[in-house]
Formats: sequence, structure tokens, C-alpha cells
Amino acid sequence: MPRLPPSVARGSGGCNAVVQAEDTKMKPEERLLRDLYEPELRGNALAELSKVPLLPFLVCWLYIPVLEDLASSISSELIDSVMVLKREMFKNLAPLMWHSFGSIIILLREILSVYPALSPPTLTACASSRVCNAIALLQSVASHPETRTSFLKAYIPIYLYPLLNTVSNARSFESLRLTSLGVIGALVKADDTEAIGFLLQSEIIPLCLRIMETGKELSKTVATYIVERIVLDEAGLQYICFTVERFFALASVLQSMVISLAEQPSARLLKHIICCYHRLTDHPRALRALRISFPEALKNGTFDHCLEDDPVARNFLQQLLDTLAAPWDEAPDSGPGSAVGGTPHVGPGSSQAGPSRVRR
Ligand code: TRP
Repeated sequence: MPRLPPSVARGSGGCNAVVQAEDTKMKPEERLLRDLYEPELRGNALAELSKVPLLPFLVCWLYIPVLEDLASSISSELIDSVMVLKREMFKNLAPLMWHSFGSIIILLREILSVYPALSPPTLTACASSRVCNAIALLQSVASHPETRTSFLKAYIPIYLYPLLNTVSNARSFESLRLTSLGVIGALVKADDTEAIGFLLQSEIIPLCLRIMETGKELSKTVATYIVERIVLDEAGLQYICFTVERFFALASVLQSMVISLAEQPSARLLKHIICCYHRLTDHPRALRALRISFPEALKNGTFDHCLEDDPVARNFLQQLLDTLAAPWDEAPDSGPGSAVGGTPHVGPGSSQAGPSRVRR
């Protein structure tokens, strides 16, 4: 772990003799972590921290390895403190990082540094875990309401797209995709139409669909969650149902996930799939298409056992089945145009039809 600058390493000067005696036995970074954790000492520690550039601290963070590594060098109370501190810091770190000089570029450089290892796939576990730490820091910027808009205006999510676009099954790639999806997940979680608009224009959906098709359970789940949040947004639902190709791209991935879940159930993933279908039925043309092709396994009780402990998902599925079974002309969404055709509207050429691509 890199040394903290001398101003942090020297101590805050406000501590009493006992604390100072203890201080001499502690490494500067341990003392700083402890002080930030202790309510009475936090003020001094933050004052100290504000005197130093954020970067060394960030670098410390980047190198704070997994807990097992920490365990050998610091006490278990300190490990707990690190966990609490990480959570606490995540709340306020984003604006601090965004406005401090050079922090974001360091993180972007970490990401750029792995591009050459993406294709052909040569990413090492070590490089992957390093870049994942950098991406986790960016996630805090994506989540924070004060920094989210600037984060989007700077097109930062686009730097993650090449990582999401990888197909290698190696663990190092899987964690790269999962951590990158975490950033996108943080954006969609915020219920921010600006963020959804950004993601639609920059064509996150095909990237998510591929991960839903080929990823491991966890990344499939996060990718499906992202798609669910996008279609819950009105613009997202219109986007996906704008052309028949888009709708069927999503419907066929959902369908094949249902088929594979019948063999390897995952209640979490199933719930997101059900929520996606449920939302799609709000669109009249999608509803008509789903009436014609809806996975049999969701109708015939295959997943009753899997949904045993999730009354919300069960209820959603029931509502969904009721909507699909309702007589056509009684369906709440069938408008005057609904008698024509049973599938989403085939719009003009898809690339002109949808929102234009984000310029890089
Ligand atoms: N340019 C494509 C489109 O606008 C992007 C795309 C490919 C897509 N596959 C998709 C969008 C699946 C939604 C769903 O259609």
C-alpha cells in the first residue's frame, strides 16, 4: 500500500496522549482509517485529509486489496472499519473525486490500460481486479445525484462499453463485465430519465442482451435488471417496441433464458424476467405479440417451486398471465389500430428510426 503524504502521516495533533501513544504503533493509513471511523476523531481526520491531494488516498483505495490480504497486516476491528468506511466514503467520495484534480483521469487511464488485453483476450486476474477497483470508484460517481449528470455529459459510461462487449468466459472477463454492469445498474437505479436517454442513445441494450444470452448467472441477472429498469421508463418501452427487430431481439433472449432457467433455476433472475414481460404487456403491440408467443414454462407451473418464497414475483406472474389470457378486445391497451397486425410496428430503418447514436 502506498505511503500517505507526510501531512497525513504526521497525525492530526488534536489527539490525546493515549491515542498518540497508540499512534506510534500504527501505520499512518491505519491511523487515518481509525480516526475516520471514530466519531470524535473524524473531524480532525477529515481536516487532515482535506489538506492533501485526494489522489494518494485514491491510490491507497485502489490498492486496498481483498480482505484476506488485509487480514495479514491489520487487526480485525480495522477490517470492520474499512468495510464501514468504504460504505461511508462511497456516500461522499463521488463529488470529492469528481472535483479534485486528476482523479477521474487516473481512473479512466486504468480502464484504458486494459483495452489491449481485451482482444485477443489476454487479461490477467491481477489486471482485472485492479481495473475493477477503478470501475467500482466510478460507480460511486454514477450513483451520486450531484455527479451523475456530469458523469453522463462527459460520456464516461462509454469507456466501459468495450469491456461489456467482451465474450471470453474467463473469470477475469466475467468480473470485468459484472463490475461494468454495476455502473450501468447504478445509473438505471436512479430513476433518472436523462440517464435512461443516454443509455438508449448509446445502445446499451444490445450489449445487455448479449450478456443475458451468454453471461454467467450474476451478470445475466444484472443485465436483465438493467433492461427491466430501462423498459419501465416510458421512453425505454417505446424504444424497445419501436421496431419488430428490437422487440423480437428482447423477446427471444427472454424466452431462451426462461428455457435455461427451467434446468438451472435462479429466483432472482426469474423475477427480473417476469418484470420485463409484465412491463412489455403495457405496450399494445408487444402485448399482441406475447399473446402469440409466450414461454410455455411460465404458463404451466414449471417455476412454482422456484417462486415459492417470492410472493411479489408470483403475483406479477399471475397478473401477467391474466393480462395475456384476457379476451383481445377487452385488453386495456388495445387502441383503434390494434386490429391490424399482431406484432410491434415495423418502423423505418432501425438506425434512423431510433434515437441517434451518441457521438464519441
Ligand atoms: N441500431 C440498433 C437498433 O437501433 C441497435 C440494436 C441492435 C438494438 N440490437 C438491438 C436495439 C436490440 C434494441 C434491441 O435497432
